[in-house]
Amino acid sequence: MKSKELRQKFLDFFEAKGHKIIPSAPLIPSELDPSVLFTTAGMQQFKRFYSEPKEAPAMRIATCQQCVRTGDIEEVGDESHLTFFEMLGNFSFNNYGKKEAIEWAWEFLTDQNWLGIDKKRIDATYFDHEKAKKGISIIEDTDLESLAILKTLSGLNKIEAQGEDNFWSLGTEGSPGGPTVEFYIDGVEVWNLVFNEWIFKESHWHSFGVKGVDTGMGLERLIAVLNMEKNVYDTDLFQSIIKKIEELSGKKYQDNQQAFRIIADHLRAATFLIADGVEPSNKERGYIVRRLIRRAIVKAKKLGIENIFVAEIADEVVEIYKDIYSELENKRDNVKQTLQNEEEKFRKTLSLGLKEFEKIKQDLTGQKAFRLYETYGFPLEMTEELAKEQNVQIDKEEFKKAFKEHQKKSRTASVGMFKGGLADSGEETKKLHTAAHLLLAALRQVLGNGVFQKGSNITSERLRFDFSHNEKLTSEQLKQVEDLVNEQIQAAIPVEMTEMGLNEAKKSGAMGVFESKYGDKVKVYTIDGFSNEICGGPHVENTKDLGYFKIVKEESSSAGVRRIKAILK
Ligand code: ALA
Repeated sequence: MKSKELRQKFLDFFEAKGHKIIPSAPLIPSELDPSVLFTTAGMQQFKRFYSEPKEAPAMRIATCQQCVRTGDIEEVGDESHLTFFEMLGNFSFNNYGKKEAIEWAWEFLTDQNWLGIDKKRIDATYFDHEKAKKGISIIEDTDLESLAILKTLSGLNKIEAQGEDNFWSLGTEGSPGGPTVEFYIDGVEVWNLVFNEWIFKESHWHSFGVKGVDTGMGLERLIAVLNMEKNVYDTDLFQSIIKKIEELSGKKYQDNQQAFRIIADHLRAATFLIADGVEPSNKERGYIVRRLIRRAIVKAKKLGIENIFVAEIADEVVEIYKDIYSELENKRDNVKQTLQNEEEKFRKTLSLGLKEFEKIKQDLTGQKAFRLYETYGFPLEMTEELAKEQNVQIDKEEFKKAFKEHQKKSRTASVGMFKGGLADSGEETKKLHTAAHLLLAALRQVLGNGVFQKGSNITSERLRFDFSHNEKLTSEQLKQVEDLVNEQIQAAIPVEMTEMGLNEAKKSGAMGVFESKYGDKVKVYTIDGFSNEICGGPHVENTKDLGYFKIVKEESSSAGVRRIKAILK
């Protein structure tokens, strides 16, 4: 089956079940939701309607939503990881519940009028709290209601109980979440049905007593499974892109699958993101786009594509999607120009940089990796990847040391990138990031657990931090906060980082604004006994590196949100 037919079938099915069809929201979430960089799930544009169903434009909605998930960019190249994908979803805001959601999913998958998938290929899972890891509480209730409904689906191959993997939420404060039922076809997870009857507030789950349904099914994956294809790149959504890369490189996809997939995936995502207004840069969203484009160009160069080509791939992407997402056609010229500028800029240093890499690869010290970075604009991640292909490891500590020394010497803010998408203004920025974690923890101690981060902006000179609180802080409160932070600095506490699953992180009580996806690893930074936050980093290794923390301003930012400006001395 082709993508166009499948999208339409899904929407037709749910329209026939009384759903309002709503267009995909942009990839950049609304300003009302500063908690995430990109739209990662269909429910994102609707998340407040679960607790405020009266505000929803309809009680039943279905969409095909563009999503970008950047948690594992480095994994792209295998058969299933994608940074951009489309999510088919149906939603209920205090309307229908588990029974309809499960039965309709089953009907859509198996009924001959719809997908007609052989029932023997389908398994389902449900949430069993006994199976969740000990010591971490999500909710206490095993989802027996869903189990009973699943048992009525005649022909279903297998039902399995699962622990925390069958509990889903965006993970941010105030987000709804709940137990899930997941349908697997030939062992591949294709449809996640989330029963949003809970809300995450002040580090705990609270039931809010209304029915909520949020489902999500990856379009590319579903087509692949339907067509008995091995992977998402075999679907019609990638064919013309792959052909174009073959044409440009003179190489065959079959012999270079990984490189082709990375180029296709990354440039498809970059095209959509730029069309939605993201400009390549050294910061946040822009940094992600830049990294996607640069990685694709390096892979292309290795395939022998020496000329400017990125905009040509964007043309293919627009052709594939223009009937579905008309904005792509409208923005075509802009997107191509932006891509071309970025490619020209990068290609200027790339060849020389790669030559230099060839020269030094046998003895690739951190110091030398730093030189590649400094002179040729090679992000550390990229050099690491090139080195890995040669079975060479880079001493990151040495790289960092060289970096620090350079900073000290030149005292200029060099242009560059660091993991986590921070603009690199070096050590100072990193220190202020760690200080922001201490600040949040201190604010919660002084003002209570109603305080949550609402935004932050950090330069090499100062940090600006927005948080939820209704009143102006008194000078005593400000002093208390300042003192608490400085106590932590003086106590010289190591800043520790642990990678763990998103759910585990949430259950450890880690605060955070982050993208979520099942199975993704997130980084949790802990400052022992004081702060525990999910964050991309980087951070200093010990609080003692921060010096002295000083609040220079406290003011209102918007209704219910205060803003603190602070510096390190
Ligand atoms: N929101 C759910 C997911 O992203 C459906 O998996």
